[in-house]
Amino acid sequence: MTPCHGQAVAERLQEERSWGNNPGIRRWAQDVAKATTTPLDEIPVARRLTPSIRQQQQPGLLTLLILLASAMVVGMVIFLRSTQHMPTTGLDPLTELMPPPEADGRLLGHFSYPIAHETDLVEVVPGHRLHGDAAAAFLAMQRDAAEDGVQLRLLSAFRDQETQHNLFFSVMVERGQRPVERAKVSAPPSYSEHHTGYALDLGDARRPELDLEAAFDQSAAFTWLQQHAARYHFRLSFPANNRQGLAYEPWHWRWEGSSHALELFEQAHRLNAAI
Ligand code: DAL
Ligand code: ZN
Repeated sequence: MTPCHGQAVAERLQEERSWGNNPGIRRWAQDVAKATTTPLDEIPVARRLTPSIRQQQQPGLLTLLILLASAMVVGMVIFLRSTQHMPTTGLDPLTELMPPPEADGRLLGHFSYPIAHETDLVEVVPGHRLHGDAAAAFLAMQRDAAEDGVQLRLLSAFRDQETQHNLFFSVMVERGQRPVERAKVSAPPSYSEHHTGYALDLGDARRPELDLEAAFDQSAAFTWLQQHAARYHFRLSFPANNRQGLAYEPWHWRWEGSSHALELFEQAHRLNAAI
């Protein structure tokens, strides 16, 4: 050992001794030694030199969860506010295909009609209801026609909005028609005389093949109706070349025997009066 080297070793020993004699440093050294050889969970929390992995991850995970929850809340609020300001028509997409009504309130030639009150409707034959007043008139007319050897058959009477909606739009879609074409033979919902409970479609029980056909006007039933229906206050709604521009419907009749009924059909009556 050279004198120089010997001096360095002595200084090092002195240094180590003074460090080792410091109680704080000794404790720290013991902790370091223990931490490297002991599983972290076995060291009392207060004496751990480094936080556990679980402790290190928890704040990060919590922050992430808080951020995620905040983003969801903010997203929800933005979505709800945007839907509140979204223009809603309350109509289904098919109804939105319709043009706006004309100046006199007609839609594609049809006047609008209110839906009959449930309490005013009576069942005439199973599945077919009419306004009580029209029902009484129809049954009297049917009975008298039968006495003349003519069998009037009720094909359709009161129709609610949903039924008319299906009749109009389902057939339109099925046939690939545009609303203007479909409206020639069927009223859009809210625009059918059938809503009032005063309108009915009639057939000849002996000629079912003519049901809802223009050729129904060749039947004995139609001939009888032409001669007698007015006595029971029934009127043909859509004669040939009617001014509403709708198809000829020899089967469709409406009852105009009360001030209420007359009022409902006044516009249609005035428009077609000249025919
Ligand atoms: N067929 C008539 C026009 C209606 O649907 O009311
Ligand atoms: Zn009809």
